[in-house]
Amino acid sequence: MKLLEGKVALVTGAARGIGKAVALKFAAQGAAIAFTDLVIDDNAKATESEIAALGVKCKGYASNAADFGDTARVVEQIAADFGRIDILVNNAGITRDGLMMRMTEQQWDMVIGVNLKSAFNFIHALTPVMLKQRAGSIINMSSVVGVHGNAGQSNYSASKAGMIGLAKSIAQELGPRGIRANAIAPGFIMTEMTDALSDEVKADWAKRIPLRRGGTPEDVANVALFLASDLSSYVSGQVLQVLVGFSKIRLGLSKGRGGLQSFRQARMATVAPERGHWQVCEKTTAGSNRQN
Ligand SMILES: NC(=O)c1ccc[n+]([C@@H]2O[C@H](COP(=O)([O-])OP(=O)(O)OC[C@H]3O[C@@H](n4cnc5c(N)ncnc54)[C@H](O)[C@@H]3O)[C@@H](O)[C@H]2O)c1
Repeated sequence: MKLLEGKVALVTGAARGIGKAVALKFAAQGAAIAFTDLVIDDNAKATESEIAALGVKCKGYASNAADFGDTARVVEQIAADFGRIDILVNNAGITRDGLMMRMTEQQWDMVIGVNLKSAFNFIHALTPVMLKQRAGSIINMSSVVGVHGNAGQSNYSASKAGMIGLAKSIAQELGPRGIRANAIAPGFIMTEMTDALSDEVKADWAKRIPLRRGGTPEDVANVALFLASDLSSYVSGQVLQVLVGFSKIRLGLSKGRGGLQSFRQARMATVAPERGHWQVCEKTTAGSNRQN
């Protein structure tokens, strides 16, 4: 018997990356898969075929997870197409990095909308479905920076910390009705989101990780499988970090769309998590050191 036989999973932002790996992992364990992404283009269609090839029902839906009305409509459609929804993975996410003094309102609103409000949208739309079933597992894709913070990612870190608070609150609110909610906080995972980092930065990261490698989407998917399945039937309101412990994490700024390109003198922050405080120092860097 497969771990998710007879279950239906809904994964947001799953055309690629971690969401796709989660959908494939769940499908390999017998779950029918509904996934969403901004557009269902050739890439999303290819993901749909790859999942269906595992012998389960699979359909991709175009929806903007940040949009409340769009989400209500897509959840209604998925419930009609699949008959039930047992597992929700709030995975859709973006970064728009920047120092607070340069961050625009748009950068803040976009990241909070796509990363955090989206989870509210989906949980809100799915609550009646799961209450009726008196069962369900909700998984919020947070991040290690939602736990520790990160200079240059105040919008992203705040959204990911919000995902943790949301999961913990839902665990308390809906636990009596048989619904569990947890958060996963990945560290550095190699996907298209982190591809933008230079080889130098990636190598620097690897040196600081005891296993000497970044995580893979499958590493995250394995933890998601645990939380989705009955193996975790007594686990709720928890945050599982998919991160190989650093003795010292050095966090910094990305060069991405947040407008940091002009910062030749990037401020690098060093955190000693075991002591729970930040030491910020100045360091010249040609690269970037974002953490998702
Ligand atoms: N890669 C990492 O190192 C890392 C680490 C910690 C947490 N995470 C989180 O894991 C999740 C997946 O990350 P990834 O690395 O696979 O990213 P990715 O950019 O490869 O994939 C994200 C997917 O979300 C979709 N998406 C974006 N905005 C959307 C919207 N408004 N509505 C619906 N779909 C939307 C994108 O089209 C894309 O398919 C994100 O929430 C991210 O913050 C990633």
